[in-house]
Amino acid sequence: MQTMMSPRSVALHSFVRCVSLRSKTVAAISLALAAGAVAAVAPAHQATGFKLTEPTADSITVWTRVTRDAERAPDDGPLPITHLFDRTTGQEIPLSNNATYSNARPVITFPAGVDLGSIRGAAIGGAGQTRVRYRAAGSSAWSTTEWRDADPQRDFTATFSLTRLAAHSRYEVAVEARLRAAAAISSTTAGGFVTAPTASDNAAATFVVMSCQQYEDRDRPDGFAIYPSMLALKPDFMVNTGDAVYYDHGPVHAINVDLARYHWARMYGFPTLRDFHRQVASFFMKDDHDTLTNDSHPGDRTGDLTFADGLRIFREQTAPSEPPYRTLRWGRHLQVWFLEGRDYRSSSEADRTQTPTILGPTQIAWLERTLAASDATFRVIITPTPMVGPDRANKDDNYANKGYVVEGAEIRALLARQSNLTVITGDRHWQYVSHDKTTGIEEWSVGAATDSHAGGWNEETPRPEHRYLRIKFGGFLSGSVTPASASAPAALTLRLHDTAGKIRFESAISTARP
Ligand SMILES: [Fe+2]
Repeated sequence: MQTMMSPRSVALHSFVRCVSLRSKTVAAISLALAAGAVAAVAPAHQATGFKLTEPTADSITVWTRVTRDAERAPDDGPLPITHLFDRTTGQEIPLSNNATYSNARPVITFPAGVDLGSIRGAAIGGAGQTRVRYRAAGSSAWSTTEWRDADPQRDFTATFSLTRLAAHSRYEVAVEARLRAAAAISSTTAGGFVTAPTASDNAAATFVVMSCQQYEDRDRPDGFAIYPSMLALKPDFMVNTGDAVYYDHGPVHAINVDLARYHWARMYGFPTLRDFHRQVASFFMKDDHDTLTNDSHPGDRTGDLTFADGLRIFREQTAPSEPPYRTLRWGRHLQVWFLEGRDYRSSSEADRTQTPTILGPTQIAWLERTLAASDATFRVIITPTPMVGPDRANKDDNYANKGYVVEGAEIRALLARQSNLTVITGDRHWQYVSHDKTTGIEEWSVGAATDSHAGGWNEETPRPEHRYLRIKFGGFLSGSVTPASASAPAALTLRLHDTAGKIRFESAISTARP
């Protein structure tokens, strides 16, 4: 039966068709019009929320993304079907966790009526514009950025650099989205952040560090329990040390660019993650599974996804500052170093004829120089993979493994020359605090994000180098700086938490310099 439309409805309908909206949206609009409604449609959404990254004393980056749909697709939805064929022999290769398909031709198909935007957990990007409004908490005047187009070449993301902010201040922020210039705002998401205190400020600080979250191992229907647990501590900032997604696990491996982006959207569309990242500024570090595949190196590829694609997509999705090795000053007492463990790693081929490197000479020189120049009370080195260990004997990816023993000893000796320094590592799926037998360097492993993702270390009895060991369970780490007072020097306390936030181990990692 033909449905009659008012002239206004017909005009709107024609306009919507001519801007080539996706068929699903057009269908929804047509239905609304058929019912006699002419209310504004809301085609630009933010199903993956926004992220606040790289806060300093006077700046922050706001990562935004426009999505086609208001919410991510359900987690019981259909999956794409993957077939991989050896490019040389034509033989089919089975999918297996941790595999790298270096010589494989992928063929991805979808069940009838399903596309990349409607598979399990998807939140596909969509055309639109975003802008950011922000103001110091308590002030009445909002500052507003220009509208920017979500970049289809960068998964419909847009980043904004907010500058000339006041130090040690709380800001409110709202990200708005619309379909196009002059269109009504169709999505608004609000949040907030704090800027760093200046280097002379005798300030308190609280931060959280987490690692290794796998979609299949989530422990809540809306994501991960550690996010509300971390949020309850009201941290000034968080650090994700890497493996934010696992490209090479589960029924959908990221063997092309589209599926890599699907992994990010599926993860960061979870309500618990959206809710956290709109309220706490973050530093994202990459590791192997969120760059390409297990223990990956520059030059590697899996299916149609290259290591270079992986680096580009990581930057696109997490908005880190450049270069990726960087240091953060948070008040008089705390300085944090974020080490980059993938970009400058020597290739497996080069390692046959040279001393293998993880950090590379330029980053090592920067580390030495910036550590020597630091006048912070406490130095915290955050590394995607361990520097001390102990680790399993069959691994060869980090400074606790035999393949990197030469550079590992050099780095640990460099760190041991500093006072009040500790190391925090991600990557290992068990929690520990250990001391290096040679240098005395202390390392805290934050562990996996969930209990079901924990594993890898089966010895229940601590070794002599362990101060603390907790296996089979996930969690996160928190650190808190207590400022100096008339009666006591500043203190830094580190804590290992379980996924519910309960403290399982804590220690003042060092005392203030004499
Ligand atoms: Fe991991």
